[in-house]
Amino acid sequence: MTTVKESFGRVYGPRLPERFYEILLHADPRIAALFKHTDFARQKELFLHGLVSLMDYAEGKASGKMAIKRLGELHSRKRMNIAPDMFIVWGDSLIKTLAELDPQFSPQLEAEWRRTLSPGIDVIKQMY
Ligand code: HEM
Repeated sequence: MTTVKESFGRVYGPRLPERFYEILLHADPRIAALFKHTDFARQKELFLHGLVSLMDYAEGKASGKMAIKRLGELHSRKRMNIAPDMFIVWGDSLIKTLAELDPQFSPQLEAEWRRTLSPGIDVIKQMY
């Protein structure tokens, strides 16, 4: 977790959500369609909060648990209807972004990022 937080510190800033959504929206035409009406100024802020929530969840913080449960409800079949397989594209897009923006990125760091994010992502997927 320490190395992930250090990495987050290096990449934190407007470039992170900017590049992430460029990569995510080009990854799959179904995804571009989902964000057709999105206010990206707002979404980019919320994305950074979402990332912090995934990290808080991995650390067992109550705030992380609440935020992830809320995101699970929002992304579920009844609300935004984000199919569970989309989360693979989401995670891969994030890793690509981090690899571009973090000069210290490495296969080990990638594994640590994935290990940190997956418990929260699993909860959101399971709430589909
Ligand atoms: C664990 C992974 C994810 C996190 C942390 C996350 C985070 C968020 C957050 C924080 C919001 C804003 C919620 C709000 O309005 O309060 C949001 C909205 C949204 N997310 Fe995700 N998301 C994830 C995965 C995905 C995936 C896989 C997709 C589809 C490919 C997706 C599509 C959307 C869409 C379409 C919105 C609504 C945008 C709008 O308001 O127009 N998300 N997400």
